[in-house]
Amino acid sequence: MSEKAASMLFSRVKESKDQLSLGLATGGTPQGTYEELKKMARETKQTFTHVKTFNLDEYVGLSEDHHQSYRYYMNTHLFNHIDIPEEQTYLPNGMANNLDEECRRYERLIEENGGVDIQLLGIGGNGHIGFNEPGTPFTEKTHIVQLAQETKQANARFFEDPSEVPSRAITMGISSIMCAKEIILLVSGVNKAEAFSRLMEGEVNELFPASVLKTHEHVSVIVDEAAAKRVN
Ligand code: PGA
Repeated sequence: MSEKAASMLFSRVKESKDQLSLGLATGGTPQGTYEELKKMARETKQTFTHVKTFNLDEYVGLSEDHHQSYRYYMNTHLFNHIDIPEEQTYLPNGMANNLDEECRRYERLIEENGGVDIQLLGIGGNGHIGFNEPGTPFTEKTHIVQLAQETKQANARFFEDPSEVPSRAITMGISSIMCAKEIILLVSGVNKAEAFSRLMEGEVNELFPASVLKTHEHVSVIVDEAAAKRVN
């Protein structure tokens, strides 16, 4: 799964003559993709100097050097291993004094750079994409969210002290995500089997955020066997 996703991204990086904007995700699922991607970059000496990256989300209140911040994750899993200039890697700033202004700034930044060409996504057990929890209007742009209890629980595995999981995050909204020209959704592991079957068999509904992807014209879904086992 990771190899497939990485080679889709890699071939775009390789083929793009001009600027390419990648939308990136964090969490357990894309770790293997980044692992493969940096391996491909190392082996072929492929440059990433023409690439800009825009991450989906960031926790509110974690500094860049906090080991669970998504900036730290991206640096350690990918950016430090390829030749992309740091100033071309963007994440929302969860430490901004004015968070509402930060949301507007981030949305503007993506637009001013011509939008995301190819967006990598994971899915939450509750169907969230980015940190857009069930019930988020599909029209929402980058905004502040209160994390659902089950999301905090799911992410607690990454923290030494589970009580340290932040309660809030900045996330690209569903409408921001849907502006990407192309989307790759990764679904991995048995704990995503329920979400995957809801995605494939359920209706488009704001109570299941990932369902909106059915209305996007260019989505690839890469799923492993464990996550696909409930779908015929
Ligand atoms: P996970 O998270 O890859 O850590 O399971 C995915 C998500 O919540 O979007």
